[in-house]
Amino acid sequence: MTGSDAAQPRDFDAIVIGGGAAGLMCALVAGQRGRRVLVIEHANRVGKKILMSGGGRCNFTNLGASPRNFLSANPHYCKSALARYAPADFVAMVERHRIAYHEKELGQLFCDESSKQIVRMLLDECAAGGVRIETSCSVTGVQRRDDGFRIATTSGEAVAPSLVVASGGLSIPSMGASGFGYELARQFGHRVLPTRAGLVPLTLSGRHLDAFDGLAGVALPVEARCNGTSFRNAMLITHRGVSGPAILQISSYWNPGDELRLDLLPDRDAFDWLQAQRAERPAAELRNVLADALPKRYAQRLCETAFASRPMRQYREAELRAIAAQLGDWPLIASGTEGYRTAEVTLGGVDTDELSSSTMQSRLVPGLYFIGEVVDVTGWLGGYNFQWAWASGQACGNAL
Ligand code: FDA
Repeated sequence: MTGSDAAQPRDFDAIVIGGGAAGLMCALVAGQRGRRVLVIEHANRVGKKILMSGGGRCNFTNLGASPRNFLSANPHYCKSALARYAPADFVAMVERHRIAYHEKELGQLFCDESSKQIVRMLLDECAAGGVRIETSCSVTGVQRRDDGFRIATTSGEAVAPSLVVASGGLSIPSMGASGFGYELARQFGHRVLPTRAGLVPLTLSGRHLDAFDGLAGVALPVEARCNGTSFRNAMLITHRGVSGPAILQISSYWNPGDELRLDLLPDRDAFDWLQAQRAERPAAELRNVLADALPKRYAQRLCETAFASRPMRQYREAELRAIAAQLGDWPLIASGTEGYRTAEVTLGGVDTDELSSSTMQSRLVPGLYFIGEVVDVTGWLGGYNFQWAWASGQACGNAL
């Protein structure tokens, strides 16, 4: 081989930037359709977020996934891909690879053993499609020419008529997250909708944080409500504010300054219950009654800060009504979020108005595709985000 031959860019049918959930799915589908695919991953291994997901067991899909579980400026965009690649399709692949799994709750499917099995499965499927994967490889430039996209990387140049951007969102920078996909989108004239951390713990400050002093680690079921959406699940008090599934879910609907409310007794009619308690236990103090329905230390704190605790018989009906109303509509004054450092996802991203919902291809630049979290489609907590990564990856892989 002469020196000039060595400098020739390597030739592929498609180049995928990002070896995460969406990128690997897209690559394996295209590879198995006979396309020559290169995956470029700048981290030292692929699928790092898959590995850390679901507490190491990867909540790889949700049986109930439907478009209503996703946030996007265009809520219709995700419909086509989700309809063409259902949770059952991914489950079929998992079963083909003999990976044992179980349903935890609310349709969430997890590996019995390890998330590593999902990455192994995707890599085996990529290998079956002859996909070339380069890790620890950084993109230094992207140009569009007559012969397609010319990608300069730290491992040399590559060209392909199709370029797939699957570089994910901004959450957990220590795992390889970067703003690369948004920058590339802008480079090619795409609109990027403002990004913010989603599925993220909320922080409190001042007296609102002081009110939880000493309660870190206490968890209780709540219904969290914000901007017309509500989630019923556990809330966990942390040293900096609140977390737990109910809070992570509602955080995606919350913007600084928005009103957030909690039903602290979501499973009962608080007034009926308090009245019944007054009839059954007239000598019992309110704080002890509340401690039957709430964590004891939390009930105690409520009675120190919001309700003066007295024997139940001393409360008039109107007072019980007022207490019940407060318990059912408790204001949570959040000062912010923990940000991308701990967020599971990034809201916002490449505007779907300029993408095809059937192929994920740019409407502005033929041959350019965006899939997965870099796009303005964000799922709820519970396996929905991976389902979007698989579905958008599959739609794109079939179009290459
Ligand atoms: P993803 O982030 O998976 O992949 C993008 C890839 O691109 C990364 O490998 C990154 O290193 C690479 N990359 C970035 N910039 C690059 C560049 N310039 N050049 C080359 N490569 C580049 N979801 C769910 O459904 N169930 C769950 O259990 C969990 N659990 C979970 C836990 C934690 C801690 C987090 C942070 C997130 C989750 N999620 C989740 C969300 C889920 O991980 C996420 O939505 C998907 O991984 C998104 O898939 P993508 O392929 O789009 O991005």
